[in-house]
Amino acid sequence: MARQFFVGGNLKMNPDTVAAKVALIKAINVADLDPTTELVISPPTIYLLPLKDILRKDAKIAAQNCYFKDSGAFTGEISPAQLADAEIPFVILGHSERRTLFHETSEIVATKTRAALDKGISVILCIGETLAQREAGETAKVNEAQLEPVIDLLKESDWSKIVVAYEPVWAIGTGKVATSQQAQDTQKDIRAFLSKAVSPAVAESTRIIYGGSVNGSNCKELAKLPDVDGFLVGGASLKPEFVDIVNSNKV
Ligand code: PGA
Repeated sequence: MARQFFVGGNLKMNPDTVAAKVALIKAINVADLDPTTELVISPPTIYLLPLKDILRKDAKIAAQNCYFKDSGAFTGEISPAQLADAEIPFVILGHSERRTLFHETSEIVATKTRAALDKGISVILCIGETLAQREAGETAKVNEAQLEPVIDLLKESDWSKIVVAYEPVWAIGTGKVATSQQAQDTQKDIRAFLSKAVSPAVAESTRIIYGGSVNGSNCKELAKLPDVDGFLVGGASLKPEFVDIVNSNKV
């Protein structure tokens, strides 16, 4: 079965005002979107519920992070149980900004992934190498090391609720997009690894999306690649061209 094209808009800690966020959602609501694309919008935590209420019903809301405990004395955190209670169906985990700035290890990301799945929340699981690691020829090794702790904690059936986002750190927010060759080769390797480490069926059905400076001009070419099943979009998700990215899988 063909993998459904998936586009996530990662708003990060943007834009600054409630009004700007509402305007962004309203623009998405009136846009003519490819109905075959699964669309997920990920605002900062404080806006999850109000934006969920106004977002078109054929799109979904995602949290940008969560903790792995259900409740307790964890100031500043939000739990998978709370996301489930708020009917937030997706969470982004392991984004490179979380790994780098907030020191999340692959083991922590795996524990969070397990906790989110246990509450029925689907996970956009981000992995990717730095420029130094790519230049040292370590891309596959790094991606596999980031996936391994997750693989250890998941059952085969859990993978239907995982979207893997390959996001080379050097391409995130830099305007430097991976070439088609780099994206395809790396994502093919990730799929081959899933086949070996989990199962051929999981490798075949799991969406592997690309993230890192995707915009309205480069999305069409990337969308054609056989192992690119969609995008996780930062900067361009705040702009009108986001609609072109959502529609980039249209033939
Ligand atoms: P970018 O961010 O599109 O601004 O490069 C992508 C991401 O961090 O998910």
